[in-house]
Amino acid sequence: MFIPMKIAGLGMALGDKVIDNDWFVKELGLDTSDEWITERTGIKKRYFLSDPDKALSYIGAKSARQALEMAGVKPEDVDLVICATFTPDYQMPATACLIKEEIGAKNAGAYDMQIACSGFVYALINAASMVASGMFKNVLIVAGDVISRFLDFEDRGTCILFGDGAGAALITQAENGEGIFAVEVGADGSAPEKLLIPAGGSARPASEETVKNKEHYLRMNGREIFRFSVNVVPQTMKLLLEKSGLSKEEVDLWILHQANIRIIEAAAKRMGVPMSKMYNTIAEYGNISAGTIPITMYEAYKNNVLKRGSILGLIGFGGGLSWGGLILRF
Ligand code: UT7
Repeated sequence: MFIPMKIAGLGMALGDKVIDNDWFVKELGLDTSDEWITERTGIKKRYFLSDPDKALSYIGAKSARQALEMAGVKPEDVDLVICATFTPDYQMPATACLIKEEIGAKNAGAYDMQIACSGFVYALINAASMVASGMFKNVLIVAGDVISRFLDFEDRGTCILFGDGAGAALITQAENGEGIFAVEVGADGSAPEKLLIPAGGSARPASEETVKNKEHYLRMNGREIFRFSVNVVPQTMKLLLEKSGLSKEEVDLWILHQANIRIIEAAAKRMGVPMSKMYNTIAEYGNISAGTIPITMYEAYKNNVLKRGSILGLIGFGGGLSWGGLILRF
C-alpha cells in the first residue's frame, strides 16, 4: 500500500493565558505541586483560552490561516474542511462550518469528526484517501480542543494535564513522493467510563441534576488509561513497521499524542527507539487532545527537525478508547 498525498501546510494556535504548574497551588489551592506534575507527567505549563466570548473556532481559524499560508493555497481553493475535536463550539452546527466561514473558504464543504485524542490521525486518513482518489485537491484539517471549559478544577488528577489549542494541516496531492506507507486504527468501546464526559449528549441531556453533579466535566481513570496507552502505543508502532516494511532505523521521527512523557518514554524503551527520535511539546503545552500531533509537527518543522522527505510516524490514542497511527513520507 502507498497512498500519495502531501502535507503542504501546517499551522498552530494556542489559548492566550499561560498556566504554569504553580497556578494550581497558588490560584486554586489544590493539593499538588510543580514537582509532582513535572515528575509524573513531564508538563511544565499549558495555555487556556481565557476570553469567554471565544471558542475552538477562533483558535482553529488562526491555525488554519497559517497552514494555508505555508501551503500557498488561497482560502477559496479549499475543497473541504474537517475539524477533529471533542470540544466543539456548539453541539450543532459543526465547528468546521464556523471555521470555513471565518477563514473565507467559501467553496468548501465542512464537517466535524469526534474521536478525541486520535482525531488528527483519523482525519488525516480521511483527507489522504480523498486527495489520493482525485476526489478533492485541497483538504484542510483543523484538530484541536478547548478542554479548559470541561475541566473540574477540584479534580487534581485530570485538571493539571490539559491545555487549549489547535493544529492545522493542508493536505494536497503528492508532488515529490510524499505519502502514507502504512495505517493502523483500532477502537474499544467496551468501557467508555474510563474517559468520558457523562452528560450533555442524548444519553444524559443537560438538567439541573447533571449540572449539580458536575457531569459536564471530563472524567478519567488515569491509571487505567495509562496502562492502556503504554500497551497500545508500542503495539501500534510495531504493526506500522511490519505493514510498511520499514525498519525502525528508517523512521526519522515519531510524534506521539502528548498525554504524558512517561507514556512516550515507555514506548521508546519498549521499541528500542532513542528519545532523540521522539519529538515532544508536552512540557510547554500539556495535553491538547486532538491538537497535540499537528501542533508538535508544526514545531518540529519550524525547528528544522521534521524536513521535506523525512519518514515520520504518528500515533494518536485516548478517548473511545481509540488509537490510530500511520507512517508517511513528509
Ligand atoms: O489524552 C487522553 C489520554 N490520557 C492519558 O493518557 C492520561 C494517562 N494517565 C496519566 O497520565 C497518569 O495516570 C496521571 C498523570 C493522570 C496520574 O499519574 P499516576 O502516576 O498514574 O498517579 P495515580 O493516579 O496512580 O496516583 C498516585 C497518587 C495518588 O495518591 P495515593 O492514592 O497514592 O495517595 C493520587 O491521589 O498521586 C495522587 N495524585 C496527585 N498528587 C499530587 C493524583 N494527582 C495528583 C496531583 N498532585 N495533581
